[in-house]
Amino acid sequence: MRFIDKTILPGDITPQAVFENRRNLIKAAAAGSFGMALAPWFSREALAANPEKLSAVLNQAYASKDGLTPYKYVTTYNNFYEFGTDKADPAEYAHTLQTRPWTISIEGLVKKPVTLDIDALLKLAPMEERIYRMRCVEGWSMVIPWDGYSLSKLINQVEPLGSAKYVEFISLADKVQMPGLKSKIIDWPYREGLRMDEAMNPLTLLTFGLYGEVLPKQNGAPVRIVLPWKYGFKSAKSIVKIRFTEEMPKTSWSQFDAREYGFYSNVNPQVDHPRWSQAMERRIGDPKGVFAPKIKTQMFNGYAEQVASMYAGMDLKKFY
Ligand code: MTE
Repeated sequence: MRFIDKTILPGDITPQAVFENRRNLIKAAAAGSFGMALAPWFSREALAANPEKLSAVLNQAYASKDGLTPYKYVTTYNNFYEFGTDKADPAEYAHTLQTRPWTISIEGLVKKPVTLDIDALLKLAPMEERIYRMRCVEGWSMVIPWDGYSLSKLINQVEPLGSAKYVEFISLADKVQMPGLKSKIIDWPYREGLRMDEAMNPLTLLTFGLYGEVLPKQNGAPVRIVLPWKYGFKSAKSIVKIRFTEEMPKTSWSQFDAREYGFYSNVNPQVDHPRWSQAMERRIGDPKGVFAPKIKTQMFNGYAEQVASMYAGMDLKKFY
């Protein structure tokens, strides 16, 4: 595992806005319970990495009690195959991604299809900060403060037709900007999908930032979705198209291997991946490193209260 350590130059000055935002987060943290975990990311290194601030207010309903994963790990241990398959590749190569101008086209079975400029999308609803546990299908997890608003706010604007049963998310695929596209591991562009009720669930976050700053490119700038009750690969990055469909859309990973990756991909410790167990997970960035004890994975990643009713009566071994 390689991590990129940003060298701090003597001239690096913390922008006041960024500092203020972090101070607000610390205040919120003191009111909550993740106090001690803040120290590692409250560093000059993290502050210098991506200084463009987003003004987001911490939503206490989603203030996880788990300690936050330090910014350094959130932004250097990534899966973004468009920039390579090594965890360190996205942080190293995603600088070639052009995030302005950027438009996102909302199309398919809606009354009001629209192409929105990213800056208009940013202003569509008030920005919230939510601390979500994230569980990757590979067995590791992180706890990340994401900034965005519920995807439902955008969906309501375009007025889906009654025939719209699913929503498809399509990521940018541009060979010039994305060196990983040379590899045929995925049938590009990267695609993901949700059932309509999943897309409308208040937990589903249209995400523009993390740690109160605009998304680093390696984390899917300028806009991605975040679905904390599903394995990480459902959270498509750098989205350029959202399409409403009647049929269940094909998704990149289920096309890659349908036996290993299903459409739903809800975090479920009782349904093993064909090649490994999903019962336990390893928290990235734990100060004890490889000696850190593994923790039990929770059903729906601990979000059963908010999402279990959407799957009532479904055989989750069959619909994995
Ligand atoms: N989106 C695109 N476009 N390409 C990808 O390779 N990887 C997925 C998901 N979204 C991926 C993607 C996987 S496997 C994971 S675990 C998460 O992004 C990782 O998000 P993070 O790097 O911000 O933690």
